[in-house]
Amino acid sequence: MLTPSLTSTATFQALETHAVDAEDWQMRGLFGADPQRFERLSVEAAGLFLDYSKNRLDGRTLDMLAALARERGVEARRDAMFAGEKINLTEQRAVLHTALRAPRDLALTVDGQDVAADVHAVLRRVHAFSDAVRSGAWQGYTGKPITDIVNIGIGGSDLGPKMVCLSLRQYAHPRLRMHFVSNVDGHDIDAALQQVNPETTLFIIASKTFTTAETMMNAQAARAWFLQSASEAELSRHFVAVSTNVEAIKTFGIDPQNMFPFWDWVGGRYSVWSAIGLPVALAVGYGYFADFLAGAHAMDLHFKEAPFEQNMPVILALVGFWNRQFLGCTSVSIAPYHQDLNRFPAYLQQLDMESNGKRVTRAGLPVDTPTCPVIWGDTGTNGQHAYFQLLHQGTDVTPIDFIAVLRPAHELENQHAALLANCFAQSEAFMKGKTQDEVRIDLQQQGLSLAEIENLAPHKTFPGNRPSNTILMDYLNPFNLGSLIALYEHKTFVQGVIWDVNSFDQWGVELGKVLAKRIEAELTGTPAPSEHDSSTNGLIARARAAD
Ligand code: F6P
Repeated sequence: MLTPSLTSTATFQALETHAVDAEDWQMRGLFGADPQRFERLSVEAAGLFLDYSKNRLDGRTLDMLAALARERGVEARRDAMFAGEKINLTEQRAVLHTALRAPRDLALTVDGQDVAADVHAVLRRVHAFSDAVRSGAWQGYTGKPITDIVNIGIGGSDLGPKMVCLSLRQYAHPRLRMHFVSNVDGHDIDAALQQVNPETTLFIIASKTFTTAETMMNAQAARAWFLQSASEAELSRHFVAVSTNVEAIKTFGIDPQNMFPFWDWVGGRYSVWSAIGLPVALAVGYGYFADFLAGAHAMDLHFKEAPFEQNMPVILALVGFWNRQFLGCTSVSIAPYHQDLNRFPAYLQQLDMESNGKRVTRAGLPVDTPTCPVIWGDTGTNGQHAYFQLLHQGTDVTPIDFIAVLRPAHELENQHAALLANCFAQSEAFMKGKTQDEVRIDLQQQGLSLAEIENLAPHKTFPGNRPSNTILMDYLNPFNLGSLIALYEHKTFVQGVIWDVNSFDQWGVELGKVLAKRIEAELTGTPAPSEHDSSTNGLIARARAAD
């Protein structure tokens, strides 16, 4: 049955009317009117606490948004996803990253395959292999233990394992240095190879399709580099693959024994839970990798079972939808107040923007509302000294997700208090702002003249009323990190259902890939091309001239 267009539904129209009333709401006033606002508009689940009280909405807004989510079929679509139905319609695939972190007794078959049996068979191999490498039992061709692991992959085959390894660096094996090579820019692999020794380096070639141009080029470069020192027979101790494409890995020259498989029902940006997470298991050990999966599973259970009004991913999605649709926010900034989460915004960019950066509905009709906002950000407090100026006083309103960890892994207590103080102060400043009158009083107290006060006051005024969420966790540990990622996965899913887009394909990346192939040939071949527009022809000509 065709899903009705979003704007045609009565609930959406009621929300539009409600949003007109909400235009004048000031969060200062909302907090003043309801001393219980923080308790009411916060939720705890699976090791995480979400405070969404600093948004320009009230309980009625949320009730209406929850009704919209129900009407759009979020429950049925969620259940269809967990049940392995082929909800990725354009590729006719199931979407089962949740099965990758489910217990062994999950009863689920896809195309006649027992999913849990397959998943746990691969997990056992990941366990055995990571134990062998970490203990030193797995040795390089001269009998030395592995010291360096180079993961070669891009997109989901890079961002997830890289972000998680960085985030969990406190748990990492002291002997193993992790390197991540993704860019087709030769400087990337070149920099990694300069740091490692072929005798003690393990390469993981990570690619779902095993056809991605960047990964294949980097893998060939690594192979050629390795063969300068060792023989073909020794490749098998130094090259393993993670892929769904066994034929391609054989053609590349990797022993199928050294391949860790996964399945077409794992999307690239949802794949860190699969064998694509092998670098994580190697770095932190299988026990912590299992905790990471358990954290995500705990969030899955919460997402499946909690009523929408107390469901953290659903709430995060609804608040985000409200800000996008009714406050007109075109981007969302992610601000982790933990240095080890510094790749988390980049990870979320792919998760959210590749999933919901769509302009047609599942039926192929143009959407009638804006969809995914731009996701960007950096760690606090660094961002405060760079772009927060715009967030506080610029003309666009950009909602922020603050992410903070209550207990540090270091013993510099004062620094941690300073970090948390900054995080909470920012959300307070975005919410409250500072009125011209407050600025004037401040300046008077500083003894400025009336003329100086009048000159400075407009510049020092903060509009405030700017929305933010704050996510807290006790520790940045594997369980909580798993839960955090799953929270955002499900948030993305719920928004995709509301917009009625297919969150699980990514056709938008294809055109550039095709054109790049053609231009690559033209850059090196003869004669020079002239079939493009004058700009592209001109750029190609300049590059050829630089040869
Ligand atoms: O081109 C986009 C994309 O397909 C992403 O969705 C994916 O994560 C990435 O490329 C890498 O793909 P693969 O794992 O097949 O190399």
